[in-house]
Amino acid sequence: MHDTLLLFGATGDLAARMLFPSLAHLVRDRLLPESFRVVAVGRQTHDADSFREWLGERVQALSGEVPTSREWRELFERIEYVAADLADPASIPAALGHLREQRCVSYLATPPALFVPITEGLKAAGLLDPPSRLVLEKPLGRDLASAREINAAIRTCASEEQVFRIDHYLGKAAVQNLVALRFGNALFEAVWSRRWIESVDILIAETTGVDGRDGYYAKSGALRDMVQNHILQLLCLIAMDPPNSLDADAVRDEKLKVLRALRPMRAADAACDVVRGRYTDGVVDGRAVSGYTPPEGTDPETFVAVRAWIDNWRWAGVPFRLVTGKRLPQRMTQVVVTFKPVSHWLFENPTRDRATPNRLVLRLQPEESVELGIMNSLAGPEWGGLELKALPLDLTVHRDTPRRIAYERLLLDALIGNPALFVRSDEVEAAWVFADSVIAAWEQGDSPVRPYPAGSWGPAEAADFLPDPLTDPRREARNGARSPA
Ligand code: BG6
Repeated sequence: MHDTLLLFGATGDLAARMLFPSLAHLVRDRLLPESFRVVAVGRQTHDADSFREWLGERVQALSGEVPTSREWRELFERIEYVAADLADPASIPAALGHLREQRCVSYLATPPALFVPITEGLKAAGLLDPPSRLVLEKPLGRDLASAREINAAIRTCASEEQVFRIDHYLGKAAVQNLVALRFGNALFEAVWSRRWIESVDILIAETTGVDGRDGYYAKSGALRDMVQNHILQLLCLIAMDPPNSLDADAVRDEKLKVLRALRPMRAADAACDVVRGRYTDGVVDGRAVSGYTPPEGTDPETFVAVRAWIDNWRWAGVPFRLVTGKRLPQRMTQVVVTFKPVSHWLFENPTRDRATPNRLVLRLQPEESVELGIMNSLAGPEWGGLELKALPLDLTVHRDTPRRIAYERLLLDALIGNPALFVRSDEVEAAWVFADSVIAAWEQGDSPVRPYPAGSWGPAEAADFLPDPLTDPRREARNGARSPA
């Protein structure tokens, strides 16, 4: 295991919110070697003490953890701080040249515009010679052209095996469970195709807003921020053919085939297959929140719904509805696989659950759960026949260990050198091909950004993209404490 983590962007939000807390948990669980240390690199001027003090306050403000426990004190002792101009490749050898002999993992938690200058600086400093590794945080570019440029420039400094591209969704235990469910159970193998599956819904709903990330978000929008990466990675794990092993490249080869089979969006289809929205003032979690007004000249969406099609034998004709939005009524990430109805209905059923299709519902957030919606008999004296009702069969694994932050797993894997949960350059590019086609289609077609009140399920035009009553978050919201707009 490598024991030196060079963290670029150490003064950014992600570091305080996720990366340092993840490292503290790994220290607590004794998963890092005694020799492990972090060299935090940022533009601000600090010495080690002032950085630790500043970081402590930021961690508390952004992650909610109070960084005073034993593991935090131990982690702080292992952190040193180096100031460097990250946009200037020459400043890196000067600042970090003394680490040349170390086995380093350089983690770039910076905007993508800095990936190339930092990588060139690391190369010049001798910090990318194998077995050193490079970890790149998303987003990798803002379209296919910029992603290709970054990948090509990185390739001149490090081999593909040395580069670990993060999509933190792959580090979530519930996402790995998706693979376990699909390939660990004979039950699903035979029915996992267009013959038995009617549709697939992937929803990532957030209650949070753009929250201080205006600069990035104005240029990004929900499609680039969430669909190009997290949602398409989920789609790949659901749709890919079985790999012949769990070897990183075996899995990535199968995911790549899915991405390449995604039908590019046509301008003519954008009006019915894409809905974009942006939240206005409203109420979320009982709290009044302001709408998002992007800077002049920009028009980013905070909600997007896309109907995608995979043109291959397994999935031809099966719609994949991909939805994500900020300031929605509930935090909820779920995948719903809806099976075709039974071919002939035998029952005279007086209830509204007449022939509800079977559904596999995988909830990833806020809690993990797996449910299979099946029809069951509720034979009762009041009615002579067999009365059927759709009931959820709970397949949830209740873990006794607390849920880990996705970054704990990913940081550990990057230090160990296990690439299985990282994204290959060709996957990133294939995902951009699809995302670019959607953007081009809405630019040419008719997909305006529609307003929706914060705390609602997005623009009314998106109603068809949301899951239907059995798993309908709108229904849960109506029954629960939170009220949709
Ligand atoms: C990030 C996006 O990649 O994922 C954010 O940039 C988003 O906008 C976040 O809020 C969601 O991640 P999670 O793990 O909280 O669902």
